[in-house]
Amino acid sequence: MSSAIDLREKKLRPERGVLVGAGSADVQHDPSLHVLDELAELAKTAGVESVARLYQRRSKPDSTFYVGKGKVDEIAAARRDFDADVVLFDVELSPRQVRNLEARVGCKVIDRSEVILDIFATHAKTLEARLQVELAQLRYTRPRLKRMWTHLSRIAGQGGIGSRGPGEKQIETDRRLIDQRIHALEQELKEIQVRKVRQVSSRRDDFTVSLVGYTNAGKSTMMHRLTGADVYQADQLFATLDTKTSHFELPSGNQVLLSDTVGFVENLPHHLVASFHATMEEVRQAKLLLHVVDASSPDFERQIATVEHVLFEEIKIGEHPQILVLNKIDLVEDRGRLRRAVADRGESYEVSARTGEGIDRLLAAVTRFDDAGRCVLELRLAAGDGKTLAELNRVGEVLESAYEGDHLDLRVRLPAEAVGYFERWAR
Ligand code: GTP
Repeated sequence: MSSAIDLREKKLRPERGVLVGAGSADVQHDPSLHVLDELAELAKTAGVESVARLYQRRSKPDSTFYVGKGKVDEIAAARRDFDADVVLFDVELSPRQVRNLEARVGCKVIDRSEVILDIFATHAKTLEARLQVELAQLRYTRPRLKRMWTHLSRIAGQGGIGSRGPGEKQIETDRRLIDQRIHALEQELKEIQVRKVRQVSSRRDDFTVSLVGYTNAGKSTMMHRLTGADVYQADQLFATLDTKTSHFELPSGNQVLLSDTVGFVENLPHHLVASFHATMEEVRQAKLLLHVVDASSPDFERQIATVEHVLFEEIKIGEHPQILVLNKIDLVEDRGRLRRAVADRGESYEVSARTGEGIDRLLAAVTRFDDAGRCVLELRLAAGDGKTLAELNRVGEVLESAYEGDHLDLRVRLPAEAVGYFERWAR
């Protein structure tokens, strides 16, 4: 009887994880290097409680275990002492290293990519996001199939982190079936992408702005602050996985179409980055990026660099005008240090999406940018040319209009790229 209760309790309690890191940081001499903090956050988001942390300073990974043998024994001991269910590595492991580690440590071993994939799997809401995550999981799983076959029977039933999500049902199929599924997903996503490009480019005359930023920087809170849209905000990583779009009005009266995208994190699994190209279409087409930064994080400079690396090197979205939005300023004590740190980074604004501080200055900057991209023209149309008038209203804004005999005189504000077309009606 009591053992049944024990079992149930064990099942109900969150999974317990030992965190392991390896790299060049000298943690022993500089404990302020919070090397495993982010992995602990990721683990928490995935429902794993961190019960122990181990770090090994090394310049080159060991091909058998990634860390040295002595460290593996320490990990095994920590797992026993803390009654842990899983070991999470803050690096990417090869299938062989995972196999060797699991055999020696005696429990599931998961690397950083798999933790992120697991979180994405539990957070994907729209069809597109679910398909993208499934594709990423399958691409990740495929080279590890052998591990699945030899180890799954032993660790099956443990469930939990690394075994959830739409990829789960594929685990017991063979590589051929996985390939078929990958192909079908790629096709389906391609169709979604074509639809999306069509949809996004039909809005190309709107003033489109995208929020980008490191996970937890405050993008959803900013979206809510600017548009009033009800978006999910939570103090956990990757609360947002699907792109959300909403309108708001600038003080000038012009409309902005604002989109919120997935948060970035260091060492995003590259399968995931590849799979999320469709999501990034909004960012690619945006006229302006608002790069939201958690200015209260001790790591904000590294986070800025990570976001820029993913955008420009991995997703290759190309040159885009960008404004740095230094968010959570209400939590920053040393604003001088912050200002020095971003002095040579171009236009930046200190704001708090939570309290509203600085938002008016940010909006004034967005308005200036919007105005700079628009030109005011004086046009003359034939009085009956309803078609051109409707087109002008669609892509721009009619500021003044007056009928003069058989023609209509107009003053209009147009996006720069539409000027060429309408110039033939210039007065
Ligand atoms: P992801 O979905 O992970 O990409 O996160 P996000 O960038 O959308 O962040 P989100 O808006 O969910 O905010 C993360 C946490 O920071 C939440 O707990 C917010 O309440 C908090 N937060 C956001 N903006 C501010 C701010 O200006 N000041 C303070 N103090 N907290 C903020």
